[in-house]
Amino acid sequence: MWSPIKTALLVLSPLIPSALIPNFDKHSSNGTYDGPFTDGGVWSKAFEHAKEVTKHLSLEEKVNLTTAVTGPCQANSGGVPRLDIPGLCFNDGPSGPRYTDFVTQWPSEFTAAASFDRELIEGRARRIGKEFRGKGINVELGPVTGGPLGRSAVRPYAGRNWEAFTPDPYLSSTLSFLTVRGMQQSGLITCAKHYILYEQEPVCDGPLDDEGGRTGCEDISSEVDDKTMKELYLPSFAETVRAGTGAVMCSYNKINGTAACESNDALNRVLKEELGFRGFDFGATHSTVASALNGMDMELPGEYFYGQRLLQAINKGSIPESRLDDMVQRILTPWYASQQHTNYPRINYQKYDLSDSKEVNGHVWTNEHVDVRKDNAIYARKVAAESTVLLKNSGVLPLRGIRRIGVFGTDADYPSTLSGCGPDLFCLVGSKRRYWNGTVTIGGGSGAAYADYIAAPIEAMSLRARQSGIRVDHVLQNDPAHYGSMAWIAYQSEVCLVFVSLFLVEGWDREHLRLDKKGEDLIKHVEKNCAGEVVVVMHAGGQVIVEDWIDLPKIGAVLFAGYPGQETGNALVDILWGDVNPSAKLPFTMGKKAEDWPKNNIVRDMGKGHYPVSKFTEGLAIDYKWFDKHDINPRFEFGYGLSYTNFELSGFDIAEMYEKDQDSIQRTNERFKGERGLYDTLYVARVNVTNVGKVAGAEVVQLYMSFPKSEKDQPPKHLRGYGKKYLEVGQTTTISFPLRKKDLSIWDVKQQLWKIPHGTFTFRVGTSSRSLPLKLEVDIQTYY
Ligand code: NOJ
Repeated sequence: MWSPIKTALLVLSPLIPSALIPNFDKHSSNGTYDGPFTDGGVWSKAFEHAKEVTKHLSLEEKVNLTTAVTGPCQANSGGVPRLDIPGLCFNDGPSGPRYTDFVTQWPSEFTAAASFDRELIEGRARRIGKEFRGKGINVELGPVTGGPLGRSAVRPYAGRNWEAFTPDPYLSSTLSFLTVRGMQQSGLITCAKHYILYEQEPVCDGPLDDEGGRTGCEDISSEVDDKTMKELYLPSFAETVRAGTGAVMCSYNKINGTAACESNDALNRVLKEELGFRGFDFGATHSTVASALNGMDMELPGEYFYGQRLLQAINKGSIPESRLDDMVQRILTPWYASQQHTNYPRINYQKYDLSDSKEVNGHVWTNEHVDVRKDNAIYARKVAAESTVLLKNSGVLPLRGIRRIGVFGTDADYPSTLSGCGPDLFCLVGSKRRYWNGTVTIGGGSGAAYADYIAAPIEAMSLRARQSGIRVDHVLQNDPAHYGSMAWIAYQSEVCLVFVSLFLVEGWDREHLRLDKKGEDLIKHVEKNCAGEVVVVMHAGGQVIVEDWIDLPKIGAVLFAGYPGQETGNALVDILWGDVNPSAKLPFTMGKKAEDWPKNNIVRDMGKGHYPVSKFTEGLAIDYKWFDKHDINPRFEFGYGLSYTNFELSGFDIAEMYEKDQDSIQRTNERFKGERGLYDTLYVARVNVTNVGKVAGAEVVQLYMSFPKSEKDQPPKHLRGYGKKYLEVGQTTTISFPLRKKDLSIWDVKQQLWKIPHGTFTFRVGTSSRSLPLKLEVDIQTYY
């Protein structure tokens, strides 16, 4: 949900000493705009069109294009009816269209990332894009591409990490690029969000309201240094710009003391100048003049600071008209470039509302309930199965030769339909009034997508078991009041399947790292009583501490299924019965105890000043890089996941191989040392992988790189390549990892450019971040 505007912040000078934070202390002041004007880049034809149209617009019309209006969609911007410019329709979100029906609830980004499968992720994006297009939505409020990135080695408590891909910047970057490219192929405009450093929910110190909601909340200020910003948090956004995203959403947090949506450094200097972003941005608006001068192009979802106030500011000369023209051209250019003016379905839905038509400002909008799903359920099932991580297996999986299974826990059951938790799906874990029931397929808030059905685990398992004459008993409860029946059923079951979950929701960071609804006790109770082995299935959007149950003698298998979307049960059945051989890998590190992460890792107090401050003191070392740097043994490392077969690697080599950047759609203006382009390939690493087991399956081979020892502030290693291949028994294939100049570079803070540090680089290849059997060293003494 768009949070209400709290205060109008017109303070332009940051409150943090600038020495601490190089390059984040510049602001445009009243009347002067020193940001770049768009030239459209690769969209130059569309830009010329937009420029021509701008000449014929009145001031009021220009302002209207930048301002929210009431309409049928989750948010609408104004148009120019006289010139047939209709204004844009905006709707969440990253896992499929929210607030409408006959759409697909896809596995969340965080879940899909576990597939480590580029083709699958781009396919998911293409299909989601078409669903949005089918409803006539112009701009999708997604994908989430690095805000949050998931600063989870320091903050495994974040409430929105599940909406994004992964805390690893390389994996996040590659998936962000493919997702924007895939979604925009349908003509949709994507909105990469939330820009930037949005790594924690607001801090609240008021009492809970009647609904169990939080009050007295203040946005956090993320305090970060230039190098960490460039090397860790910015790369995913750079990739979305390169992939041609038409829009960017700036975030709710402050950056080094300044609201992200009025940060000249973040918007004008970094996003528009350095990354060369030619589209439009909008987000958490706090002001009129400061926002417009410091780079915010549109205000949504209501008219608070733009509209009339923007018009007055232009008339008074506080904002030059040339800046307004730039705002308009930034909005119109991607619209023309994606051909939405000639060839796009009209809006045929309205924000969730059971009525079939609604009158807004004299216009009647009809809700046609268009079914945009096509065969997406089949693909969503595939994504969910390919993203289910097998964490432990004694051999109990795949299920074979059994006649009785017992199923336990509310998480195997049907969830309440949408209305059970309200249209925003803000089911609050601690709320008495809106509690999550049934299986968890997605988190709550803006990242939630609507499902028209949920293939609950109990439904899918019962159907599959019946085909093979297997008896299924179940107690779909967590409450100890049912422990008696559970014990009785467990005692008669050859395999006991326990379903546990962790529901995460926008606006709430976690208080602890445990499962919801005393899931740990449920597992232990079933384990104690089960006649055979126990299979634990976790539906969770992030870290869970598993130490007090995972090594119990009867825990045979553990599956981490993330938030798999509507096809949850069907995908699970594919894995349980071995129709799909598990191949997913953890896109984050699972630690053993809360102390594995730094103390006070989430800011929970208001701070002494005007707002809470979060200092990103760990720098680049988040997630596995934190564990590596501090020599902490995780329970399951980043990149870890089992299969029903085994693989062997051989023949690792690395060679120089120049190839010019082929996939940039929009070119960035990032500065670098040397002749070759930042996104040109310089080297290629190769390794052979063989399926040496007894069943066919896919393996994700991973390449990690260590910078030369001279780079003292670098964590021990970085993911720099991954490839997934399906292999029949005995089959061998070669996986190649192209290394681009940027992949070998560091950000030089002094010179303000990317450069390859000279010295010995170490490359390791393997099947997880801690299983890297093959190693090579390469001495690099050129900038290229
Ligand atoms: C604010 C959320 O942060 C953003 O992700 C979402 O797209 C908008 N609200 C609209 O729901």
